[in-house]
Amino acid sequence: MNLSKKIKELINLEVDRQQRGLILIASENYCSAEVLAAMGSPLSNKYSEGYPGKRYYSGNEHIDQIERLAQQLALEMFNLKDKDWHANVQPHSGSSANLAVYLGVLKPGDKILAMDLAHGGHLTHGSPVNFSGKLFNFVHYGVDPKTNLIDYKAVEKIALKEKPKMIVCGATAYPRTIDFKKFGVIAKKSGAILVADISHIAGLIVAGVHPSPFPYADIVTSTTHKTLGGPRSAFIICRTELAKEIDKAIFPGLQGGPLENMIAAKALCFNHALTNDFKKIQTQTIKNARALATELIKRNYNLVSGGTDNHLLLLDLRPQKINGKQAADALETADIFTNANMIPFDPASPFAPSGLRLGTPALSTRGMKEKEMKLVAELIDKVLRNFGSTRITKKAKQEVTQLTKKFPLSAVR
Ligand SMILES: Cc1ncc(COP(=O)(O)O)c(C=O)c1O
Repeated sequence: MNLSKKIKELINLEVDRQQRGLILIASENYCSAEVLAAMGSPLSNKYSEGYPGKRYYSGNEHIDQIERLAQQLALEMFNLKDKDWHANVQPHSGSSANLAVYLGVLKPGDKILAMDLAHGGHLTHGSPVNFSGKLFNFVHYGVDPKTNLIDYKAVEKIALKEKPKMIVCGATAYPRTIDFKKFGVIAKKSGAILVADISHIAGLIVAGVHPSPFPYADIVTSTTHKTLGGPRSAFIICRTELAKEIDKAIFPGLQGGPLENMIAAKALCFNHALTNDFKKIQTQTIKNARALATELIKRNYNLVSGGTDNHLLLLDLRPQKINGKQAADALETADIFTNANMIPFDPASPFAPSGLRLGTPALSTRGMKEKEMKLVAELIDKVLRNFGSTRITKKAKQEVTQLTKKFPLSAVR
């Protein structure tokens, strides 16, 4: 078998899937051609263990400039001054950024308060199957059973009782605004370091359509490939007092040589995030999520918390009598890509949870607007209402192709 040919063929098929399909996975997006080019550039050949000006290998003259630009732009995105804040742009992923933060400022076994995975938190926020839950003593807060909103009074009560060394706010499946200011007050009262993991909502924050965690959080972590629409990577911003610990935790603590091709791609992503074009996409992402929510509610779908303030929605499919996994599988056959998700207080198992998570970043980057969201809701409903009907799914798939053809990826990247 000619493997080069095979891999090329598979890449082309995947590009076709991304073009043909409706990507409604809340954590996915399309990055730009310049970001793709930087990721695939010969920067990948270089070893640059260490930090700009303090490398363990020679030949980093150009690499240092790239990394410094990325650090500078990371701060610029959030209007931060480098006398107060420090950016580390080396984390390979959101998970390694979070691990570096825990290991950098805490000791294994220390107590951390974070959002429960089952209520919208992330695996790295203390799930027992993740390094975080194995290495640290996590206690969790969740949402109110009636409203499905974070109950800040309850968070404060737990924080004052448990006295954690760190509080983590930020989520992976929470459709509502996060009140970082309130978390800041709770952290101060309980004497904890506040970490905001803004992986999902970083793009919305940079565009000013979601409140910022600065200056309330002491440390902010984020991925760069979700609403930010950049390369598959991450960064950390911390108060300058914590810079040494965070830098040491990333290198030599956790990682070896940084991926400078990815760091160049992050610089380009951050630069784009400062433009008006980016702001328009983020604004539209929220408008699209609201429109999709309205259209689904009209079709009798139950939304966790009754709607959305951000880029994602969580459907509770119990009234439809199908689970999230069955729904995601059925939609996939119609080229509609979503993910099964736990809902708060889910009586079902994590393998067949009751919820379906939908997000609008990718469709918004493609240029879709409210009018298209109505069609998307219609298509989702058609497939789910006729669960098991191959004929209807086939028809829906044709309609998906007709719709996505009008929004070619070549116009995005
Ligand atoms: C809130 C949050 N933090 C961290 C991560 C981990 O990011 P990665 O997949 O890059 O490790 C995710 C990814 O889903 C996330 O949603």
